[in-house]
Amino acid sequence: MARLRTVYNCGDCGASHYKWAGKCDSCGAWNTLVEDVEDPNEVSTLAAGMALIPPGTAQPISKLDANMGQPIPTGISEMDRVLDGGLVPGSVTLLGGEPGIGKSTLLLQLLAAWKTKSLYVTAEESAQQVRLRAERLHALNDNLWLLSEPSLTNIVAALDSVQPQLLVIDSIQAVADPALGSAPGSVVQVRGCAHRLVQEAKHRNIPTILVGHVTKEGGLAGPRVLEHVVDTVLSFEGERHHALRILRAVKHRFGSTSELGLFEMTELGLVGVPDASQMFLADRRPGTPGSVVVPTLEGQRPLLVEVQALTNQVAGNVPPRRSAQGLDPGRLAMLLAVLERRARVSLAQHEVYASVVGGVRLSEPGSDLGLCLALVSAATNTPTPSDLVVCGEVGLGGEIRHVGHMSRRLAEAARLGFTRAIVPANSQPKGSGKAHAGLTIQVAGTLSEALALAQLNVRS
Ligand code: TYD
Ligand code: MG
Repeated sequence: MARLRTVYNCGDCGASHYKWAGKCDSCGAWNTLVEDVEDPNEVSTLAAGMALIPPGTAQPISKLDANMGQPIPTGISEMDRVLDGGLVPGSVTLLGGEPGIGKSTLLLQLLAAWKTKSLYVTAEESAQQVRLRAERLHALNDNLWLLSEPSLTNIVAALDSVQPQLLVIDSIQAVADPALGSAPGSVVQVRGCAHRLVQEAKHRNIPTILVGHVTKEGGLAGPRVLEHVVDTVLSFEGERHHALRILRAVKHRFGSTSELGLFEMTELGLVGVPDASQMFLADRRPGTPGSVVVPTLEGQRPLLVEVQALTNQVAGNVPPRRSAQGLDPGRLAMLLAVLERRARVSLAQHEVYASVVGGVRLSEPGSDLGLCLALVSAATNTPTPSDLVVCGEVGLGGEIRHVGHMSRRLAEAARLGFTRAIVPANSQPKGSGKAHAGLTIQVAGTLSEALALAQLNVRS
């Protein structure tokens, strides 16, 4: 039998070192190395379903049963959308998110909707607390078994006695294996417990969900290695002061990671938001300078969002403030430079605030033109037409560049009653387009043309 040997693992990137050092060679982080024991007998991560085939048995691909890993729908449609169908038996999913964002609430609702026997292990709250929350959420389900227990040994024992068809661990940072010796939440514990739970999930062929708290910087607190150990990593995000919550797949072994789930946090827990555009535009006040509606695409889903800008002239030599919320600050700086050089709109002496309404983050360049128009609208104190949507990427030459899936974006705009769209010349949807009937499409080749179409007159 191979001997155990001491290693030092980085708490940030998970890299192993045979000697302790102040700095991790792999990711450069300081003071993150923690002592651990390397176990040569440790099982490496297996994809779900692999436990059903004897190890080391090669088979012709055509003989394999493709139905083995069919996802089971969770009953929460926004979640199934992100998971590409549901939870695959034997798979392990890590649900990450900041404390208080709603992870426990989401999972309790999932468990309430689950058809077969399930086990919810809460290592952070008492069983009474969970029961009270379940009552408030109308989530009492006779198939749902509850265990308030931080010890891994007892959790595994409960798996044997309850024999659930779904396991939820809330949270992996609060679970500890007494045999490992170090404190709960340490790299050694989190990694060790996760490995064991992955083995149990494969061996029992049940889907397992691990909750993981993330730090402010967005990384999973403790070892990043968890991301490699599990099949799926979901991230639950949102602004604490907004009701909107976004669920996305960061990694998914069984499907695409491009879909997005949208929820609203209400008195009765999380409610799916099938019509997100409507929600984002609910508080919009047409006719306000600096506001432009952009048809964006998140995954396969078109979303209309309002981009807002505010500019304010300031005196003095101090560089004026720039603030971007829900937008990339670098992109804002670039667009301000393009506006100055290519459209003769100088905001060098202005404070500039730009934001996306509703706590959404816009990362696609298709929102460039909308932001430019919002900036000029704010600077000239001229509202853009209230029935207008704007979409296009802006290049350094002031040219408006192609944006994909224009038909889908425009159909969403037409559905919500918009009647005009400014789009890039080569993104014009082909054919008459029944889906966006009622929408007058105007094409712009340059930033100046787009400003003229939106009736924003720039003083020269
Ligand atoms: P929780 O699920 O406990 O967050 P996490 O497990 O990610 O730490 O949810 C925390 C917040 O959600 C809490 O501040 C209260 C709020 N909340 C509601 O607004 N409505 C509800 O029905 C519930 C259960 C929670
Ligand atoms: Mg919680």
